[in-house]
Order: sequence, then C-alpha cells, then structure tokens
Amino acid sequence: MSRIAIVSAMAEELQGLQDHLANARSQRRAGRQFWLGRLGEIDVVLVLSGIGKVAAATTATILTTEFQVDRIVFTGAAGGLGAGVEVGDIVVAEHLVQHDMDASPLFPRYQVPLYGISRFPVDAALSMQVRAAAQAVLAKIDGAGTTPSPTGVLKREQLAEFGIAHPRVHSGLILSGDRFVSGADESRALRAAFPEALAVEMEGAAVAQICHDFGLPFAVLRTVSDRANDSAHVDFGRFIADIASRYTVAVVLELIADLRD
Ligand code: ADE
Repeated sequence: MSRIAIVSAMAEELQGLQDHLANARSQRRAGRQFWLGRLGEIDVVLVLSGIGKVAAATTATILTTEFQVDRIVFTGAAGGLGAGVEVGDIVVAEHLVQHDMDASPLFPRYQVPLYGISRFPVDAALSMQVRAAAQAVLAKIDGAGTTPSPTGVLKREQLAEFGIAHPRVHSGLILSGDRFVSGADESRALRAAFPEALAVEMEGAAVAQICHDFGLPFAVLRTVSDRANDSAHVDFGRFIADIASRYTVAVVLELIADLRD
C-alpha cells in the first residue's frame, strides 16, 4: 500500500496538516512523534523533521525503515539567495547540496565523501507534481484575491502585511547546511560559490542523501521567509505562523488531491 511522508521543518506546518488528518494515531520513535492517518484518500505519515542535517537524516531514516513510506515530501522555510527569489515565493528543489561539506583536500569541496557527487537530484516526477500544486495555490491568490486557497487558509491581505504581492514558484538548486544564514557576507559567499542557487535552508540535502541511500523518491518544497541577510531573523516567527505554514497546508492538500487522480 502506498504511503507518503510529509516531513515538516516547522511545528506550525505540522499542526496545520494534523487539523486535516483523518483516522489519526501516533507512534513515538527516537523522541519524535509520527502521526499516521489519511489526508483525503492518501495514507500519510506526518512528522517534524527536527532542525539541522543530522536531525532530518534521522527522521528520514526512521520513516523508511520503520514506517515503510514510499515517498517523502519535505516542507519548510528557506532564505532566498537567487536574484528574484523574494519573501513569499515558493522554491521547489531540483538538486540539493550540503554547502558546509568540505573534506578537501581528500575530496573536492562540497562532494559527499565516497558518494562521488555533491548535488543530489530529487525525484523529477514527484517534484513536478509538487511544483504544479504550488503553482495552483499561488495562481488562486493572484486570480481571486479574497479566498484563494482550496482550504480558504491563505488571504491576500495577510500576504500584503509582509509586502508580498505576486508570489512565484521557482525550481532549481537548494543549499543546505547547519547554519542559519543571516549575514550579507555569508549569503554573498554562497552566491559566489553557487551562482545558480535559489535558496538556503538546513535540512533538505541531508534528506536527499538518505533518500539516495534507500532509493526513495522525494521532493523538497520551501517557502522563502527571508533573504538570508542581516534582517533574516526579523519577523521570522510571525511569517512562519501566518504565511509559510498556510502555504504548506494549501500546497500539500492540493498535491494530495492530485496524487489521488
Ligand atoms: N531557513 C529559513 N531561512 C533560513 C536562512 N536564512 N538560513 C538557513 N535556513 C533558513
């Protein structure tokens, strides 16, 4: 039986999804609460990833070895790096890199030792479905203006409070590392090392490595919460609660409806 894991970086996202979970029951493993049930007609496991690469890797490993999920969709926030990647946009990964991996001179910088690669590709088909779901949700905001999402959880006025007018979906390279990037110098250095990078976060590339190991299809969906610069922390909490978690719920429900077809 097909079972999809939705791994949330933020508690508000998990709570928002739990509100829609039917036949909910939970199991505890390694200090994490795994919520099993159904979203629409799809069997799901919902869980918080934990913060950082190691926590996310542990969560992904448990999902595959103990809960037999056959796909993982990772959701959360990210700092925008690419030109035109603005707060309120959505980024869907095509590849992920651990930007803090450096075993040089033994291995090329950024390469995961003994894997022979630095960029881990996502599952193209699943990511295309995630991208389509994100676009559908954002298109409803632009078009309707008042009650845009299928769940009625996203409102144009709430976006306007954060200066978000016409959010867009981007797909491409996401960087992950065990650092909250909140300085102009650091984000400039990341941009110089990875000119095509769209966004930076703290977990996705670790999940990518685990999914590579287990041959598990996965996708990473991130809402841009900041520009990874000196004001990256400003309003972060309120943005997560008011915007990012609502995006996640709307996009995941749209995706779930699509997976059923
Ligand atoms: N998640 C959201 N914003 C981030 C940032 N600036 N750096 C790392 N992870 C993030």
